[in-house]
Amino acid sequence: MNDTLGNWKRTQLCGTVTAEQMGQEVCVMGWVQRRRDHGGLIFIDLRDREGVLQLALDPDRDLESHKKAAQVRNEFVVAVKGKVSPRPEGTVNPKMKTGEIEIEVSELKILNRSETPPFMLDEYSDVAENIRLKYRYLDLRRTSVQENLMLRHRVSRTVRSYLDEHGFLDIETPVLTKSTPEGARDYLVPSRVNNGQFFALPQSPQLFKQLLMVSGFDRYAQIVKCFRDEDLRADRQPEFTQIDCEMSFVDRDDVMTIMEGMISRVFKEGIGVEIPESLPRITYAEALDKYGVDNPDLRFGLELIELTEIVKGCGFKVFAEVANNGGLVKAINVKGAATFSRKELDDLTAFAGIYGAKGMAWVKVNADGWQSPIAKFFTPEELKSIEQAMGAEEGDLLLFIADSFKIANESLGRLRQHLGQKLGLAKKDDYSFVWVTDFPLFEWSEEEQRHFAVHHPFTAPLDEDVPLLATDPGKARAQAYDLVLNGSEIGGGSIRIHDQSVQKAMFGLLGIDEDEAREKFGFLLDALSFGAPPHGGIAFGLDRLVMILAGTDSIRDVIAFPKTQKATCLLSEAPGGVSEKQLQELGIRLRKPVQ
Ligand code: AMO
Ligand code: AMP
Repeated sequence: MNDTLGNWKRTQLCGTVTAEQMGQEVCVMGWVQRRRDHGGLIFIDLRDREGVLQLALDPDRDLESHKKAAQVRNEFVVAVKGKVSPRPEGTVNPKMKTGEIEIEVSELKILNRSETPPFMLDEYSDVAENIRLKYRYLDLRRTSVQENLMLRHRVSRTVRSYLDEHGFLDIETPVLTKSTPEGARDYLVPSRVNNGQFFALPQSPQLFKQLLMVSGFDRYAQIVKCFRDEDLRADRQPEFTQIDCEMSFVDRDDVMTIMEGMISRVFKEGIGVEIPESLPRITYAEALDKYGVDNPDLRFGLELIELTEIVKGCGFKVFAEVANNGGLVKAINVKGAATFSRKELDDLTAFAGIYGAKGMAWVKVNADGWQSPIAKFFTPEELKSIEQAMGAEEGDLLLFIADSFKIANESLGRLRQHLGQKLGLAKKDDYSFVWVTDFPLFEWSEEEQRHFAVHHPFTAPLDEDVPLLATDPGKARAQAYDLVLNGSEIGGGSIRIHDQSVQKAMFGLLGIDEDEAREKFGFLLDALSFGAPPHGGIAFGLDRLVMILAGTDSIRDVIAFPKTQKATCLLSEAPGGVSEKQLQELGIRLRKPVQ
């Protein structure tokens, strides 16, 4: 039989009892983390979300509670009354918040019992993630996961109050809606009332927030769930949360400036870190040139150097051919890494291969010259020019990739990020922000032989690039911006098209004909014809932001009930089958599962 609470009232949370309360009577409740029997005395570590408190049970003080304490096992729910006392000499634990004190228990109640948990809940036990997710409610009892979710709470609270202070209205947008193109597949919801028709869960509230601007709300913000059926990675979830904002009568600077204020407040209140009020900006072209990717990690240098011109006439065919046929030859100088082993170099080559590089040449700069499979192909003058361009010194390792613009940049850029991690240049508590601006408006798909919107189809071109839409759309740049933190895209947005004719032209360029544009986005085109103000906005990935603030590598660590890499919930076992009756009502017959 369990005890009942009766008229007991908790006086405070376990982790909040302090040495200043010495001698006071308290009543605390929580979970048993550990019980130790020391002959006569029993010690219990009692845990709640604020921390762990030591309870001391002495049979001479109260025999009844001592007897009950002997029955207590891990994860039992216990309530005690007692006096805050100093721990006996030699048992003080300076690592614990409550390490100087214990509770001399005068009365104990067992409020509930627990089966033996499927894994130890201490911080150090290394448990397979599928077990942790199946019993997520137990996993969530662990201090580190609780701290992550409390941090997330503080971040949301800060964001809400900052946005409120700056005139943003929190307005909810529908979850049962129509597809908005953000580049992923939609999650569809069949309609019973309208058989054969489907809602799409929003990939973002993009169109609704634009409509709110047309309605005159001026500033909108919402912390909102978004749904994307895409391939998952460590920083992606099928349902995730955005801090979604939209503003009227603004330009890019206005949006970026106000968001810098928000991010700086979040860092200060979330983890006590001061970041500059004004964050650096680089263009997309510059990002690709120097770092090979549009989400560069700026915690370290290791910049890409272009050698295309220098190697045009060289004797190494691979380089000369690429250089003379519109490709790029680029290299990085890994300072002091001439000590890398053959295996390490092979691993780096294989890594670059993941991103399409057909090879990776290397040079170790030794006291007696180049040690390299390609040294023999270069004249002494060429060697010198390359060394100069690379700032090469004895002991350095130079890595080269010759390929198309896309592959050379991406593979060397990823290699750069990889080396930053491998060499410990990317420190966890270092926060390096950069706005990347002036993205191209379109990306050409060789496969489908048509343009795609790099951001989304509602993004405005730079004013000076509008004429390019008619002549050379591939060259047009967008009024778009991404905020990148330590190599991770934490937010992205743009100034939108508010002119109906430009929006129509945009659809045309994307290969969406008039009928399709009307069918999919008619309501937006109509809205733009009724006095849409100039407007723009941004959305941040809240999960990603908190993940970086918490210093963890997995987005699942900052989500209470996350999905696996296979987009399933191991706890509730979703997704699952449905009854034949439900399918019938929806007018759906299942095909054989797609293999
Ligand atoms: P975008 O598609 O860039 O822009 O998304 C904004 C931010 O959301 C985060 N994010 C994700 N986080 C976790 N899991 C995912 N699957 C995932 N996908 C995206 C990223 C990203 O920077 N409507 C536009 C915003 C706008 O134009 O205002 C949009 O959704 O951190
Ligand atoms: P090979 O002549 O094929 O033996 O190549 C000589 C060196 O050039 C090897 O170290 C290759 O990895 C490297 N290499 C081959 N193709 C490329 C490329 N596209 N870019 C950079 N290095 C390459």
